[in-house]
Amino acid sequence: MNKANIAVLVSGGGTNLQALIDAEKSGVLHSGEITLVISNKEDAFALTRAKNAGINTAVIPNKQPDFEEKLIAALEKNKTDLIILAGFMCILSERFTSHFEKRIINVHPSLIPSFCGEGFYGLRVHKAALEKGVKVTGATVHFVNEIPDGGEIILQKAVDVLPGDTPETLQRRVMEQAEWHLLPAAAELVSAEISR
Ligand code: GAR
Repeated sequence: MNKANIAVLVSGGGTNLQALIDAEKSGVLHSGEITLVISNKEDAFALTRAKNAGINTAVIPNKQPDFEEKLIAALEKNKTDLIILAGFMCILSERFTSHFEKRIINVHPSLIPSFCGEGFYGLRVHKAALEKGVKVTGATVHFVNEIPDGGEIILQKAVDVLPGDTPETLQRRVMEQAEWHLLPAAAELVSAEISR
């Protein structure tokens, strides 16, 4: 069976990328292979994680006017079947998302449709959840379309909010209990479907 060719797009620390790399090593992710990691930030620690795992990397700054064209060119050159947004902090245009319809997935640190859409990313999501006083939050992996965080939901997992939580402690719990398991599981589900 041919494996799905996976490119992971990142912007920061890359703990979700690490979860994907570890899942490939352990066999949880076996229908796809991570062949390329692209960052819009040249100082993203995620790039170091990719290099340590022997994965090809590229940096394409999103400030450039032809950012999406360059991104598409790099992804096509790599013959990418599946694009995984793992802490990728750029909103992609409809031109881009329709080019790769049902071939882009994203992990978001809340139970969509709560605390999502433009402006909700990273710690801001957890800050908003704490301000609202929700007792349960979580993470979602979904297909990416032209609506920010609006594509079809693939997997979700709930995580308790605990008394005394800060955005940082809540972020960590949501990553540990939800994101790092959901994203590899969803990557395997979609890779298996693509490579059938
Ligand atoms: C993760 O919590 C991810 O869900 C979130 O940013 C963090 C990246 O961490 N993504 C978004 O908020 C996207 N809207 P990482 O770089 O350690 O994987």
